[in-house]
Amino acid sequence: MSELLGPERKKELKRLIMELHRGAGVEEVKGRFKELVQGLSPEDIARLEEELIEEGLPREEIQRLCDVHIEVFKDVLKESGGGEEWHPISILMKEHEIQLSAVDGLIRAAGDGRREATVSFIDHLLSAENHYLREENVLFPYLEKHGITEPPAIMWMEHDEIRELKKELKSLRGMLEGNEEVFEKVKKVGEKLRDVLSSHFFKENNILFPTAEGVIEEREWVKIREEFDDVGYCCYTPPPL
Ligand SMILES: [Fe+2]
Repeated sequence: MSELLGPERKKELKRLIMELHRGAGVEEVKGRFKELVQGLSPEDIARLEEELIEEGLPREEIQRLCDVHIEVFKDVLKESGGGEEWHPISILMKEHEIQLSAVDGLIRAAGDGRREATVSFIDHLLSAENHYLREENVLFPYLEKHGITEPPAIMWMEHDEIRELKKELKSLRGMLEGNEEVFEKVKKVGEKLRDVLSSHFFKENNILFPTAEGVIEEREWVKIREEFDDVGYCCYTPPPL
C-alpha cells in the first residue's frame, strides 16, 4: 500500500465515500475527493474498496458507487499502458475496443433496419464470451492470489449483467424478419449494452488492470498468457508469445 495513504487521509476518504453512499451529490464532494486521491495508486483504491466491504458496505453499493467514483476519478486516473502486444492486458484492452465498436455498429445497423448487419453484430458480440472467461478463470484468480479479491468480484457481477443483455439480444435475433418493432428493441438493448460496456471497460482499463500490473509479477504474466491461449480468443488473434 502506498505510504501516501496514511490513516488520516484514509479515514477522510472513507468518510467521503460514505457521504456519497448516503446520497451526497458528486459536485458537493468532488473537490475534497480529488485532493485526497492525488497520488493514490489504483491498488490503494482497490484495497480501500475491500476494507469498505469488510466493514459491511454491500458489494452492490460499491458497484453503484464505482460509477460515481469514476466520475470523480476520471481526471486523475491513468489508463493502463497495456505494454507489448503479447501481454494479456494488451489483449484484453484491444478486445474491449473491438467490442465497443461492434456494439456501436449494432446500434447503427438496427437503427437502419439492416437485418444481415444486425445479425452479424449480434453474433460478434455473443462470440466474445471467452474474453470474459479469460478474465474470470485466469486473471481474477491471479489477482485473488495477491490479495485483491473484491474488485474482481464486482467485475464478475457486471459480467453477469452484460450476459443478461446479450441473452436478450440472442432471443431478439431470431425475430428480426421484417419486423420493425424488433429492430427498435434491439437498438434499445444495444444502447443499454453500450452504456454498461463503456462503464465496465473503463473501470477495468483504469483501475483493475493497473492494479493487476502493480501486483502480478513478470513471470506470472507469461503463465497467464499461456492460460489465455488455452481458453482461446474471440475478436482477433494476438501475436504468439
Ligand atoms: Fe470484464
